[in-house]
Amino acid sequence: MIQHGRKGYLYKFTIGLLRKIREYQWGHCKTKSMLNGKVFIVTGANSGIGKETVRELARRKARVVMACRDLDKTKQVIEDIRREISSGELSVTREFTLFDPG
Ligand SMILES: NC(=O)c1ccc[n+]([C@@H]2O[C@H](COP(=O)([O-])OP(=O)(O)OC[C@H]3O[C@@H](n4cnc5c(N)ncnc54)[C@H](OP(=O)(O)O)[C@@H]3O)[C@@H](O)[C@H]2O)c1
Repeated sequence: MIQHGRKGYLYKFTIGLLRKIREYQWGHCKTKSMLNGKVFIVTGANSGIGKETVRELARRKARVVMACRDLDKTKQVIEDIRREISSGELSVTREFTLFDPG
């Protein structure tokens, strides 16, 4: 459906606004509770969602084991996170490859 003129602008503005509200409500981990003494194993921890999960767990003082297939990349990610966050305990497993049917 193509919208024109003022109606089109209003339509795009409304969709944009709804999207921003949704991102604000759903796109954040709201709890700030500390995770001292808890251990987490994160697969795919060297990029995307996995990396952001590790960052948040470190911020909250968890012990995190990063299970990844590229160890050099994972060590680099730990250095990146450590530049910003000094809390938590980050370590790497031996090379870890998930079964990939593709
Ligand atoms: N991003 C989103 O908005 C979103 C939304 C819903 C669902 N998802 C799903 O969530 C998952 C992660 O998304 P992402 O955006 O974080 O992806 P990503 O940045 O591509 O990260 C994927 C991670 O998985 C690892 N990986 C891939 N295949 C592997 C295998 N066979 N063995 C071991 N590790 C493997 C990659 O390691 P390497 O660095 O070694 O390749 C990488 O660390 C995907 O399945 C995606 O479809 C994502």
